Amino acid sequence: MSQVHARLMGVSRVYPAAAGQAAVHALGPLDLDLRRGEFFGVVGPSGCGKSTLLDVVAGLAAPSEGRVTFEQRDVAGEVPDGIGVVFQEDASFGWLTVWDNVAFGLRRAGREAAEVQRRVDEALRFMGLVDFARAYPAQLSGGMRQRVCIARTLVMEPRLILLDEPFGALDAQTRLLMGDELLRLWRASGATVMLITHALDEAAMLSDRVGVMSARPGRFIDIIDTGWARERDSRIAAEPSFGALTARLWSLLRDESLKALGHQRP
Ligand SMILES: Nc1ncnc2c1ncn2[C@@H]1O[C@H](COP(=O)(O)OP(=O)(O)O)[C@@H](O)[C@H]1O
Ligand SMILES: [Mg+2]
Repeated sequence: MSQVHARLMGVSRVYPAAAGQAAVHALGPLDLDLRRGEFFGVVGPSGCGKSTLLDVVAGLAAPSEGRVTFEQRDVAGEVPDGIGVVFQEDASFGWLTVWDNVAFGLRRAGREAAEVQRRVDEALRFMGLVDFARAYPAQLSGGMRQRVCIARTLVMEPRLILLDEPFGALDAQTRLLMGDELLRLWRASGATVMLITHALDEAAMLSDRVGVMSARPGRFIDIIDTGWARERDSRIAAEPSFGALTARLWSLLRDESLKALGHQRP
């Protein structure tokens, strides 16, 4: 469990000055080890650099300083094989059926038709989408569409899954159920998961460890071990220690959120 899967060393990211605007120091410098097989949650005030952090781990953005490795290799310039990303916005292709959406990556990778068939069917079964295989995204609810996006990432069998507020647009009940599915996927795949969320209860419920970020430029002000068993689901929200954990996250985050809003500490 303690084997390092991805590592950030002295990583910072500054968005260079553009037409009449100052440069933005968005992230870091920070260090982070993601352990192989863990579920790592990230919370932080709005605009603190969470998406920037995800982009840097995924190789979608280069750090301005520092180094990122995944499975001991430097991440640079492109998303490494073995990393899958799920974004907040619905990134499904509206002109493709659910089945073709999920098959997209495998086809692009040039996989044999029989293998595509088998893996897509399996991913659809896992995400409860079999009955919707021939539907188009516009015919589905928001929760279903986000499941399509997860299936599309899952079908590539990533060893590290990065999710950027994937349930942000869903209602509270759907969010809880999607959380359970994510836990099921995490257990079944053995993948390492990094989940960015603005929902403290979601982070508290799903994570082995929760990294709490400061206001911009984002760094980790604390990393909290939740102590949950691997076999867990949303029912832990009823446990007393869950309330204590959520309260602790909130007290850490409160001052940072006020800073992000430009207020002084009261
Ligand atoms: N492409 C960009 N160019 C300039 N500034 C950016 C860009 N992307 C993000 N930022 C700025 O960097 C900071 C962190 O952004 P982001 O990582 O999206 O935060 P979060 O996901 O925590 O809300 C914000 O102040 C944002 O305005
Ligand atoms: Mg973001």
